Amino acid sequence: MKSWGRILFGGLPLLFVFGCPDLIPGDECTEDADCAAGEVCTNGNCVAEAECDTDDDCAAGEDCVNGECVADGGNGGDPVAGEAFYNANNCAACHAADGSGGLGPDIRVVSSAEIFANLSGTDPHTGGTVAGVTQDDADDLEAWLATQ
Ligand code: HEC
Repeated sequence: MKSWGRILFGGLPLLFVFGCPDLIPGDECTEDADCAAGEVCTNGNCVAEAECDTDDDCAAGEDCVNGECVADGGNGGDPVAGEAFYNANNCAACHAADGSGGLGPDIRVVSSAEIFANLSGTDPHTGGTVAGVTQDDADDLEAWLATQ
């Protein structure tokens, strides 16, 4: 009788040690294998896996932006490069950080042809031209602006 009791009660603390972590919020997992398919372990929680890491993970006509596949604006532009171009050339000063407009108009839905015409000087542009701008740059800008 004495030895049965020791086995029963001696085993209880172990049950808590191994049984409880699942129930503590934020301690759902320690590695991806603890989570369901399509989920990864982040800070102890199972969260949906990012849809993509690079453009190659997305369908044709889509680019990977912040882990999500988004339409690239139709011209194969790269939104990440577009955002970098936008920031490097201070477009936000007149068109706002997201292209929604300020001193200049909302340019979130303009075509890459329109963008190229403005930045190359074909169309007069209050914001001036960008030396060496290419149609590719304009495609990238269109792709990024389309995500805003
Ligand atoms: C000094 C302010 C200013 C800056 C900086 C500026 N723009 Fe503009 N932009 C304007 C204004 C004002 C217009 C309205 C038409 C005009 O004056 O050319 C305009 C028009 C445009 C248009 C045409 C919109 C349409 O509906 O036809 C595009 C595209 C554009 N800007 C893109 C850009 C990009 C990309 C940059 C950064 C490389 C930029 N702009 C920087 C002021 C600016």
